[in-house]
Amino acid sequence: MNWTVRLTVNGEPRTLALDDPRVTLLDLLRERLHLTGTKKGCDRGQCGACTVLVDGRRINSCLTLAVSLDGAAITTIEGLAQGDRLHPVQEAFIAHDALQCGFCTPGQIMSAVGLINEGHAGGDPERVREGMSGNLCRCSAYVGIVEAVLDAQATLAEDKERAA
Ligand code: FES
Ligand code: FES
Repeated sequence: MNWTVRLTVNGEPRTLALDDPRVTLLDLLRERLHLTGTKKGCDRGQCGACTVLVDGRRINSCLTLAVSLDGAAITTIEGLAQGDRLHPVQEAFIAHDALQCGFCTPGQIMSAVGLINEGHAGGDPERVREGMSGNLCRCSAYVGIVEAVLDAQATLAEDKERAA
């Protein structure tokens, strides 16, 4: 038996036939679509390395069955840059040295984008720490990560004001 799931992935419509309804979004992205920027850390919802956006909200893709997302829009780390221009959160991570080995970084960045979209960062380091607490970094790059999120939040707020 086959299951079909229709997704928009980084702006591109995709129709995928699955031979097993237990395929997670994470495995679908990495193994079927070869979008390997999204990382598999714990594979059990504890590390945040697999964070992507579904309809603009962040989720752990290792805990989400692909078939449950029919019709959804997925954004992965590969979909953030606009051509050669990195997303402000990506730029801020580089500017603040918010990564060491980089394994957790795609998940951290997607989580930061979601957090800022949700309006939960509030320019407050404590709120950022709390909002990012589901994303673990074994290298402990947390100081730079919090600075990067605050910086990107300010840049995005300025961009919004300028566009209004
Ligand atoms: S791989 Fe999904 S939370 Fe760790
Ligand atoms: S930079 Fe290495 S795990 Fe976060």
